[in-house]
Amino acid sequence: MSAPLSVENLSVVYRVAGGILQAVRDVSLSVQRGEVLGIMGESGCGKSTLAAAMINLLPVGAEIRQGGVRINGTDMLKLPPAAQRALRGQSVAMVFQDPMTAFNPVLTIGRQLADFAGAHDPARATPDRLVAMLARVGIPNPARFLDRYPHELSGGMRQRVAIAAALLMQPDVLIADEPTTALDVTMEAQIIHLLRDLRTSFDGAIVIVTHHLGVIAELCDRVAVMYAGEVVEEGTVDAIFHAALHPYTRALLACDPAVVDPSSGRLPTIAGRIPDLTALPPGCAFLTRCTMALPACHNPPPRVLLAEGRSVLCHRVQP
Ligand SMILES: Nc1ncnc2c1ncn2[C@@H]1O[C@H](COP(=O)(O)OP(=O)(O)O)[C@@H](O)[C@H]1O
Ligand SMILES: [Mg+2]
Repeated sequence: MSAPLSVENLSVVYRVAGGILQAVRDVSLSVQRGEVLGIMGESGCGKSTLAAAMINLLPVGAEIRQGGVRINGTDMLKLPPAAQRALRGQSVAMVFQDPMTAFNPVLTIGRQLADFAGAHDPARATPDRLVAMLARVGIPNPARFLDRYPHELSGGMRQRVAIAAALLMQPDVLIADEPTTALDVTMEAQIIHLLRDLRTSFDGAIVIVTHHLGVIAELCDRVAVMYAGEVVEEGTVDAIFHAALHPYTRALLACDPAVVDPSSGRLPTIAGRIPDLTALPPGCAFLTRCTMALPACHNPPPRVLLAEGRSVLCHRVQP
């Protein structure tokens, strides 16, 4: 059986004033049923562009240069627009960073949930189903919620409802781009808890984009680390947290407040910044920030495949 989601050699650019900005570069990933893949990396590394490409809802100005996005084996990018919309409504759902963007401000929550639930079968949009789903995502007094408007809810409640809306579509693939970033710490913890509970009852593939290492550790099975548009390391959560090989992954982990020595009094940051994506260097994109660089790093790094689902893009790593 095909994986619910597989991305193959995907490259996405934006046309900007300075030229062509290479936001996603030759990314290949796949996520199996029941599996949660985390995507992490600094801001600007292409995580949101990759997530949007997975559902082919890229912003204006973006262009897919090469590659494919297969949903249950079908390359979505090769379908005509109407068939793509159908596949999106049926198989892939997205939860955004700001839950307000997912809702129409002038329609009640109940009306909007009914639209999601009935997207491919109006018979499924019954009030009972909507109320049951709201209860499942932890909404108190769910029946009373159907008549409320998005602005009447707190950010955390809106994010719960957005997750309910996504699940009502019964997707095979659920993509969440920084689902907890806009929330305060308490709400964030609650949403992480909710997503962890959902893991046991949702049998599709889940992709979570986050810069929060706690989210990765608590929710994910595997991790893809992105730097300057590329996946520089991929592995199980255990491999990434305990046996990271790419110098960028190691530097990111050293920045996590949870592992920083409190007596040092400050958080480490990775010195330097990501390269200009409109003028990438010919060799390794991390070279100027890497403390372990070799002369060979001026050439493009090899993708070293260590095992199924375990790869590193680095001259330092031996196969
Ligand atoms: N709509 C857009 N138009 C032009 N450039 C964009 C657009 N969206 C993102 N970018 C650029 O693409 C790169 C990757 O951005 P993004 O995918 O948002 O990264 P992340 O989610 O990891 O922060 C960045 O350099 C960003 O400035
Ligand atoms: Mg982003």
